[in-house]
Amino acid sequence: MDFKNEKLLRQSATMGSGRARKPNPHFAMVAQTALAVAVIWVFCVLLVHVSHSRRFYADAPLATPLRQYYSNGYLIVSSNGGLNQMRSGICDMVAIARYMNATLVVPQLDNTSLWQDPSKFEDIFDVDHFINSLRDEIEIVKEIPPEMQQIQIQLEMEKHLSMPPRSWSDISYYTDQIAPERLKKNKILHFEKTDNRLANNGPIEMQKLRCKANYNALKFTSPIEKIGSKVVKILRDKGEFLVLHLRYEMDMLAYTGCNEGCSVEEANDLQALRYSVPWWKKKNINSTSTRLQGLCPMTPEETALTLKALGVDRETQIYIAAGNIYGGEKRLASLRAAYPNLVKKEKLLPPYELLPFKNYSSQMAAIDYMVSLESDIFFPTYGGNMATLVEGHRRYLGFKKTIQPNQKALVNLIDKYRKDLNWREFEAGVKKAHANRYGNPVRRRVMPEKPKEEDYFWSNPQECLIL
Ligand SMILES: *[C@@H]1O[C@H](CO)[C@@H](O)[C@H](O)[C@H]1NC(C)=O
Ligand SMILES: *[C@@H]1O[C@H](CO)[C@@H](O)[C@H](O)[C@H]1NC(C)=O
Ligand SMILES: *[C@@H]1O[C@H](CO)[C@@H](O)[C@H](O)[C@H]1NC(C)=O
Ligand SMILES: *[C@@H]1O[C@H](CO)[C@@H](O)[C@H](O)[C@H]1NC(C)=O
Repeated sequence: MDFKNEKLLRQSATMGSGRARKPNPHFAMVAQTALAVAVIWVFCVLLVHVSHSRRFYADAPLATPLRQYYSNGYLIVSSNGGLNQMRSGICDMVAIARYMNATLVVPQLDNTSLWQDPSKFEDIFDVDHFINSLRDEIEIVKEIPPEMQQIQIQLEMEKHLSMPPRSWSDISYYTDQIAPERLKKNKILHFEKTDNRLANNGPIEMQKLRCKANYNALKFTSPIEKIGSKVVKILRDKGEFLVLHLRYEMDMLAYTGCNEGCSVEEANDLQALRYSVPWWKKKNINSTSTRLQGLCPMTPEETALTLKALGVDRETQIYIAAGNIYGGEKRLASLRAAYPNLVKKEKLLPPYELLPFKNYSSQMAAIDYMVSLESDIFFPTYGGNMATLVEGHRRYLGFKKTIQPNQKALVNLIDKYRKDLNWREFEAGVKKAHANRYGNPVRRRVMPEKPKEEDYFWSNPQECLIL
């Protein structure tokens, strides 16, 4: 049977008069007048669809069987944040849509965040692969069908279309509350946010679906994959390499309020940026005490000392996965002195190769994500979204080594070393503080009622790992 026809039948049964009917693959063989009418109706719908030249699924191979279900309606989602925050949010939305029996519309990416990247989903991820590899779980469409668009506009006007789902919600919030009250009723719903909208813990099948979405369905576009592989090959040809996610960038310093080692002028600039971003709630921050609590991105100087104490050889290639380091080359001097083989993609590739990606911070971040996955060691200097996602992904790929810096212990040791601790004592202290922090198999720490303090699902998707 023609796939598109089957699909339309299913959709008309679901979205039509409200009475859901299970689609029957032998439908056309039953010669009944009522059904004939239905066939004509479906044919008309098909014509409408064809005239809008809408394609449900493109040419990618359809390996997995299609899940048959009654769709409660369309779910539109607007991802928020940078690439990695959106990435985990999208995977959570796949699970949420699946359990709500929704038809998911390919997620919209954030184009208003600090990064101002206008990239669409299909500019970063292989959209057909995404749709096809989840067929057995959920129906995903590229856009709302034309006959729904009027309803969408109407609902938007009545303020019944959009809502931000609650943070850290159990799946039951979506299936028991949102599905009947919003989705089934209106047949279309828009989630305005995707960050941390789903609890870390949940039914094992749901957790597995989150993994499938992240590690299987989300694949970068082939231009990104090509350039990422090229960077990996250049590094690999020279031997082992460590990826340093040096999150010493202006936005993160401004957001966290950390200015250790910055000039007065730089500290003022960082503060000015913080006050200018309305959705960063915390404004008055004491950098010293924040750092002592282990909540600051590590500085390049602190990073160099830590790598050295952990025994990373001076000749090791270190690839910096980051945008612009605050303070530029000058601020990197001590790290470069300790590790002369310090590189970035801008250094490994001729400028013209990066040109198509340069104006798109999320595409640049995607290249770094790929290199981070492939590295022999991954070392994030701050526990943000990229650190979390890459750490979890590397566990999934067979517990590849990820150093999880114990920042509170580190700043303490570093301050002591700068005063009176000798190198041997410092080194022993750093090693001891990291004895069990290499991304090895461990149980995720669960803290009911305190989702922000427990281990994130995305840093340790243990339900999907063989422990
Ligand atoms: C989704 O569909 C399944 C059957 O396929 C049903 O058991 C479940 O209750 C439905 N969930 C919702 C929220 O409609
Ligand atoms: C951002 O994305 C939305 C939704 O896809 C779109 O309507 C809007 O025009 C985009 N804005 C910019 C500045 O690209
Ligand atoms: C900031 O915190 C440090 C360490 O807790 C403290 O010594 C200092 O007085 C604080 N500074 C201000 C301006 O409150
Ligand atoms: C990147 O953006 C700059 C500034 O907006 C623009 O001048 C340049 O043409 C863009 N480059 C590419 C390759 O799109």
